Amino acid sequence: MRTIDWDTDASAVVIVDQTRLPGCLEFVSLSDVDALVDAIRRLAVRGAPALGVAGALGVALAVVEAGRHRSADPVGHVRLRAEQVRASRPTAVNLGWGVDRALARLDGVDSFPEVIRAAIALIDEDIAVNRALSIRGADLLIELTGLPSLAIQTHCNAGGLACVEWGTALGVVRALHERGAVREVFADETRPLLQGSRITAFELSRMGVRHRVVVDGAGPTVIARGMVDAVVVGADRVCANGDVVNKVGTYPLALAAARAGIPFVVAAPESTIDDATARGDDVHIEVRAADEVTSMNGVANAPAGTDAWNPAFDVTPADLVTAIVTELRVVRPPS
Ligand code: MRU
Repeated sequence: MRTIDWDTDASAVVIVDQTRLPGCLEFVSLSDVDALVDAIRRLAVRGAPALGVAGALGVALAVVEAGRHRSADPVGHVRLRAEQVRASRPTAVNLGWGVDRALARLDGVDSFPEVIRAAIALIDEDIAVNRALSIRGADLLIELTGLPSLAIQTHCNAGGLACVEWGTALGVVRALHERGAVREVFADETRPLLQGSRITAFELSRMGVRHRVVVDGAGPTVIARGMVDAVVVGADRVCANGDVVNKVGTYPLALAAARAGIPFVVAAPESTIDDATARGDDVHIEVRAADEVTSMNGVANAPAGTDAWNPAFDVTPADLVTAIVTELRVVRPPS
């Protein structure tokens, strides 16, 4: 199953609408840039690698639009729409990376077919890259723990639904599971939008991996009680100094893992590494609407008028990270 794909007949992006999971597995066709930007903002398509592919396919949609609208300045139209896609969410570096991968082929109207081809090529590239890093991550965890079978803690959703098909952190779980090396996975539910309980648990049950969901506040306690052998998470951005930006609630797991002396491993493709940003403090952390915290499915869970601060991501300092695994290498901060 592909989380995001290109429909050549319709010249449209097709996504799994992740806001409908786990109750409904619905595929939605997005035929213009406005529809894609809306899907990114409301997290219908989400997760850093999937956002990278969405960024590239957004440029492909802009090319299609330029033809459809018989734009007087087709190249200007594509560049303008590409910037709207890039600005749709601020934290995952992959989004802009994907936009730039497609824009790199833009050289006048004659290049339009090549721009679309380059964007579509990222779909298969994402699958191959995440499969490779998953196998490397599985090898690393067995090496680090010295165990034949592991219990693992994860946060948010870094599975196939956050990428095209193979996940990053859950890709590592999948690779371990294929070797019969997973005892259990603890998935933090991931307040407020519940990517852990809605999406990670959905994926783990489809994989046939034994798992339990815990509330975010219980995550560090799972580690402190020795119930897991390692923590594996994805990332939205890895800074030049090794600081890791990921879903809010990741940092407490890293603190608990350091205290317990178990590995805290980050699985992410090279496209998530941002050499241009020195440290986590320099990253624009998305702050989302207060009502995501104070209500659920339209039902208030705080008194009327209660305000909330709703940062979508946190920064795990490099010194708490045991290793960052990509498709090419294992980086051990502060190296
Ligand atoms: O707000 P989201 O759901 O897009 O946040 C996603 C995460 O934080 C993931 O852990 C991260 O993108 C890695 S996905 C392989």
